[in-house]
Amino acid sequence: MAVRSGFSSRLGFVAAAAGSAVGLGNIWKFPFEVGAGGGGIFLIMYLSFCFLLCFPVMVAEIAIGRKTQRNPVGAFKVLGFPKWSIIGKLGLISGVLILSYYNVVAGWAFGYFIEMVMGNFSIGEQFGDYIKDVVKVGAYGIVFMGTTAFIVSKGIAGGIEKAAKLLMPTLVIIILSLVVYALTLDNAWDGIKFYLVPDISEVKLEVIYKALGQAFFSLSLGMGALITYGSYVGKNENIISSAVLITLADVGIAFIAGLMMFPLVFSQGLPPNGGPGLIFVTLPGVFGSLGGGLGVFIGSLFFLLLSFAALTSTVSLLEVPVSYVVDELDVRRTKAVWLVALVIFVVGLPSLIGNGYSAMFTNFITYIGDENATNFMDFVGHVANDSFLPLGGFLISIFAAYIWKKPSFYGEISKGYPEFENSIWSKYLGFGVRFLCPTILGLLFILTVLDRFFGIVIIAG
Ligand code: PHE
Repeated sequence: MAVRSGFSSRLGFVAAAAGSAVGLGNIWKFPFEVGAGGGGIFLIMYLSFCFLLCFPVMVAEIAIGRKTQRNPVGAFKVLGFPKWSIIGKLGLISGVLILSYYNVVAGWAFGYFIEMVMGNFSIGEQFGDYIKDVVKVGAYGIVFMGTTAFIVSKGIAGGIEKAAKLLMPTLVIIILSLVVYALTLDNAWDGIKFYLVPDISEVKLEVIYKALGQAFFSLSLGMGALITYGSYVGKNENIISSAVLITLADVGIAFIAGLMMFPLVFSQGLPPNGGPGLIFVTLPGVFGSLGGGLGVFIGSLFFLLLSFAALTSTVSLLEVPVSYVVDELDVRRTKAVWLVALVIFVVGLPSLIGNGYSAMFTNFITYIGDENATNFMDFVGHVANDSFLPLGGFLISIFAAYIWKKPSFYGEISKGYPEFENSIWSKYLGFGVRFLCPTILGLLFILTVLDRFFGIVIIAG
């Protein structure tokens, strides 16, 4: 097995894991999911899922990773439960699927950086044509995947950590400035109301499982990304406080992204349920309205930082299959990186051309019992984010609670936190992995699959 280079410090691990969590999921996806899910009600569900269901899974993933020092497939073998490595295999598939379309959107964001540098503020109105131009956005996608592969090939401490530490804080500053600016615009407070005041009549099964999928996706959970990162964490580190920091950073950034978006959307008189184009359609006009020089500066900085946020996530997505290929198939790291990146790029081609260029992938599938076709990218999202990640979380919680069992699981956590077993955290975590996660995630998984893929509605709403 290859020698594992660890993170250089505790801050390094938290920054890299937070870097994995914070990405397009927070700034691109979260606002449009909130918009489509009816506003405040989605926000409440998302926050509850993050703290009640995702947090215990996160702790379990990091503990499994640190204990075994392995990739998500090898980890379960090392613990002596080779059958459970199915969790890791499912995670590999999820990772490949997610990165395949994530890279396409990351390419769009990177391309917007270039448009902003050139002062093309009307790009928002041409978004539909922009994503149809597959040669152009495909080239951006190649640049993005290439950069991701380059960083991953440099190993953990060298690449991932440095990038994350520097860039995340800058991104937060820029978003907060935009929040302040947005609040001065007309109708801004209608946007805030939509975002923060829940409308109970919007509760639907689809909104519930979208919020659940978003929580897992945003926290990079359910596919072993944090098993992989956990495998690089030192034994004397406190897993609980690290997980708290990662969760707060991720949820906090998603929250302020919403505070930025909805005032902007409402001030422009746009519908909040604008779908995946939301930030790409709305923001360029806003930057344009700041006036020439300032608009170019803030606009390009924003999309550059968004691209970096995406990069720290794509790096973690690529790291999962790569660490598997390196550890289990004994391939040299550099070779593994470029090979896997190439495969994932190819898997992403239908997502690339399914935005208007190819009719077949733009109107990809009509679910059994659903008359609305969806594009390929959305389809992959339904499978990977909304179904596989919560399923992975379900299996991980059962594994930690009932297979690996309390003494080993808690023993691992106690290593960097000797008082853990007597703390309130151990009760919270125990309740989560033993009861809440298995029941709620299991139930929602079944309902989601029946509803989404078979058109069988058990709970109408
Ligand atoms: N959490 C990342 C984001 O919000 C995406 C991601 C999902 C990364 C799963 C790793 C694993 O953008």
